[in-house]
Amino acid sequence: MVLQTFIVFEGLDGTGTSTQIKLLQEKLESEKSFITAEPTDRETGLFLRKMLKGEIAVNPKTAAYMFAADRCEHVYGENGIVENCEKGKIVISDRYFFSSLAYQSFDCGEKLPYELNKNFPLPKYLFFFEIEPEKSLERVMNRSKQTGEQIEIYEKIDIQKKTYNAYQKVMDFYSKEEFSEMKIIRIDASLSIDEIHKKIWSIVQEMPILKS
Ligand code: TYD
Repeated sequence: MVLQTFIVFEGLDGTGTSTQIKLLQEKLESEKSFITAEPTDRETGLFLRKMLKGEIAVNPKTAAYMFAADRCEHVYGENGIVENCEKGKIVISDRYFFSSLAYQSFDCGEKLPYELNKNFPLPKYLFFFEIEPEKSLERVMNRSKQTGEQIEIYEKIDIQKKTYNAYQKVMDFYSKEEFSEMKIIRIDASLSIDEIHKKIWSIVQEMPILKS
């Protein structure tokens, strides 16, 4: 099932999805849009934030279940994705289950993340930000130096490289005819912030919900 007003941004850490979501948000009327992210800031997401900082260690399978549980609240919980789509809003999420398929596959295999996530609704647009893992990780490290932001457990070159390859497989899988109602837009994340924003806006501004 595809949610017609749901948009997802995906990519390795440091590819610039958050910056682009902020720019897109500025273009949209606040009553007509709902901007969100995973892990969420709900209790389920707070557990994951601690895990990402290395404060809690769990079995990789537990992490896969936890990301899916947080997503279940995100999608179906109060003031979640479905509720906001039903209210007629454009819902934009920084990460969704494609992150689980990419990140969790390297340490617990592809099957479990897929089984846990295959029934969640698909977005209408999936913007996939691509850049070599070395470059995106360099951005993460620079940001951390500037802001003091803590480096998270997946922000290591070997993990980012594996995740990069896994993401490519995930995008190939979802490019199949049976998922054609969802449009995947590959974004060259090495382009300028402005160039990327223009490309994204040229697509989003054509959504029927913004024409009514
Ligand atoms: P991120 O978008 O980097 O958030 P922030 O910029 O606020 O730190 O996401 C946090 C990390 O969580 C990122 O390394 C990817 C990881 N992640 C998963 O491993 N699986 C998932 O299902 C999701 C949603 C995120």
